[in-house]
Amino acid sequence: MSQIPDLLQEARRRELGQAAFYRLLSGDAAHGGDTEVAERLNELLADEQHHVARVTARILELGGTPEGGEAVPRVAPSLEAWEAEARRREEDEVAWYEDVLDAVEDPGTRSILSEILESERHHREGLAGKWMPAEPTTAKEGM
Ligand SMILES: [Fe+2]
Ligand SMILES: [Fe+2]
Repeated sequence: MSQIPDLLQEARRRELGQAAFYRLLSGDAAHGGDTEVAERLNELLADEQHHVARVTARILELGGTPEGGEAVPRVAPSLEAWEAEARRREEDEVAWYEDVLDAVEDPGTRSILSEILESERHHREGLAGKWMPAEPTTAKEGM
């Protein structure tokens, strides 16, 4: 049980990172006048902010103090490539929540993490759309 506070802090850092990622991109899309993409990104951003809020609330309920600032990604992908990168990140989120849920027995924490996992799966599915390239774009990874 003692791992739950650490795990919630890690979840919160991840969710802050995801929110920052979508916030950067939605700013780019809005600047570029691409309202349709900006709208999709804003929906993803709102979901990630909701995840941050759920995890933060659980940390406080358990008597903890939310740690750490916002993990701002150094480089956001170009708007042409955003969806493939976002899908890769959401796949990571799904894998992380599936992994930690194996170790969490506390029902209150489990229910929150399970709910977030469902939302991340939904993000992943929504990003596997028609703009998906045939191959993962690995060229950007090394930058
Ligand atoms: Fe999330
Ligand atoms: Fe997500």
